[in-house]
Amino acid sequence: MVVLRKSTQEEFDRWFALSMERQAEDRAWVNGTDPKAERAQLEAMIPVLLPKGMDSPDHAFRVARDEAGNELGFVWVGVAPGAPEGTCVLFDVHVHEAHRGRGVARAMLEQMLESLKGDAIKTVVLYVRADNAPARALYTKLGFVEEETPEGAKDLQMRKTLEPDPEDERAHTFERQHVVVSGLPSTRAILDIGGGGEGVIGRIAGERVIAIDRLRQELEEAPAGPLKIVMDARELGFLDKSFQTVTAFFSLMYMKAEDHPRVFEEAFRVLAPGGRFLVWDAVIPPRTGEKRDIVVFPMTIDLPDGKVVSTGYGVRWPDGGRDAAYYRHVAEAAQFEVVSEHATERHFAMELAKR
Ligand SMILES: C[S@@+](CC[C@H](N)C(=O)[O-])C[C@H]1O[C@@H](n2cnc3c(N)ncnc32)[C@H](O)[C@@H]1O
Repeated sequence: MVVLRKSTQEEFDRWFALSMERQAEDRAWVNGTDPKAERAQLEAMIPVLLPKGMDSPDHAFRVARDEAGNELGFVWVGVAPGAPEGTCVLFDVHVHEAHRGRGVARAMLEQMLESLKGDAIKTVVLYVRADNAPARALYTKLGFVEEETPEGAKDLQMRKTLEPDPEDERAHTFERQHVVVSGLPSTRAILDIGGGGEGVIGRIAGERVIAIDRLRQELEEAPAGPLKIVMDARELGFLDKSFQTVTAFFSLMYMKAEDHPRVFEEAFRVLAPGGRFLVWDAVIPPRTGEKRDIVVFPMTIDLPDGKVVSTGYGVRWPDGGRDAAYYRHVAEAAQFEVVSEHATERHFAMELAKR
């Protein structure tokens, strides 16, 4: 089994250096130039292509591992500056020599292509050396088609149009939301409800965070730092008044409306008097038709340290929709007092207090 995960900084540094070296060699072969000169040219382009390194918006760096955790390979896709809308480039895919010939590259690419489908990407292009027959055969199997090139060209462009997914017809994708998360309270421990996935609160407050999530896998995928516990927010395993701060960052949208009262009551119970429940969530309008029953919110999240998380949160479209007023009522029914509320058209942030 091949499991594709976001790369850590250490993995990125290692793989990216290797990727630059390999790409410089390929370009030197194609152009009949010196690899060192090509490498210098590539490196000069990095600040434009990847202004925020591995966290640059519109780029994905993934590392593949097997079940035993062995590192198998690396894949990088991203949007090149000035590229036509909806087009991304498969910049690199690489498998450790020891793991070649076992379908790893194919599995990595299949997963990567699948993950792009919900992301407004319609076309993927790649460049491959004309003499790399195995790679060309693999890309062809995955549905890439070679563009016409002059006779004797040493590199080829291949292109794949992502097939419309039946899910796409069901999904309504809202405009990209830009969320700026400013500093969190400096309290000793922060309980983050639904803290798996991108683990945004954990990225900000690290070891101060106790991230709970119903799904083990979501916690495993979130970056390291917080104490991660598989736990249901409807029944928190903490004593009363244990925390000064509880957070829910785009987690409540993943819960059924019938569970919200219980989750707010639990947050209230585990907070100490004077404590705060900080909620960020999507404003979901009422559902309009039968066919479209999934809502997707592409998000760009600015963290206090200048890093940017680019992701998308998608859920089944609740019939009646949900806005800040809906959550305010649930919060007040659980005895919270609303301290502040900032809403845009499609998302809101709310600070709730336990008096
Ligand atoms: C995708 S995450 C949302 C964003 C996440 N906070 C982040 O920073 O990226 C939402 C999580 O809420 C979790 N969740 C849904 N219902 C839950 C419940 N009753 N108890 C705990 N976690 C729950 C889901 O498993 C999911 O991982």
